[in-house]
Amino acid sequence: MLTRKQAIKLLKKAGCRDNVIQHCIAVSKLATEIAKKAKENRFPVDIKLVEIGALLHDIGRSSTHTIKHWNIGSEILKDFSLPANLTRFAEVHAGTKISAEDAKRLGIKEKDYYPKTIEEKIVAYADKLTKVRFSRKNQKWKFIFYEDISHEISKLKKKKDLSDEQKNRIINDLIMLENEVLSLIKFKKLPYTSLN
Ligand SMILES: [Fe+2]
Repeated sequence: MLTRKQAIKLLKKAGCRDNVIQHCIAVSKLATEIAKKAKENRFPVDIKLVEIGALLHDIGRSSTHTIKHWNIGSEILKDFSLPANLTRFAEVHAGTKISAEDAKRLGIKEKDYYPKTIEEKIVAYADKLTKVRFSRKNQKWKFIFYEDISHEISKLKKKKDLSDEQKNRIINDLIMLENEVLSLIKFKKLPYTSLN
């Protein structure tokens, strides 16, 4: 398994900008916390895989910020000769399925994009809860962690380029993902705000 340092080096090598790298570091931090709690609850979770998978999940953003960064990210990771359990994080971090019809329309591969393993679910969920911004005052990146996915759902509802049916499908998937991950931590809220 890659070390954290090696994973960050790969992000830089691929050409990810600082905001993307900081986002990946923040997601990795939160995802690792969730994974540790899941492990305490005796779920068979590979904490290291969560940490590194989260660091690499957005590597495709070195090339594009469109939905195509999922497939591209996975290709970049394959080019770095990484195994499938790591390359998959790039493709399954949205936490929602994409219908064959939508995949065609969006120009991405037709496949099941819903996260399957515990590790993939944790990373996809942590990704939904994480935001970073640069504080000019402190000249430092600040990590923001949401308590749940409700902000993501409100954002989605306002989208004009999706039909109501598509929105409902995504919302259902996100709620399912949230429940799956919260069940790993026995529905206890994490002290997200203390992660900064
Ligand atoms: Fe992300």
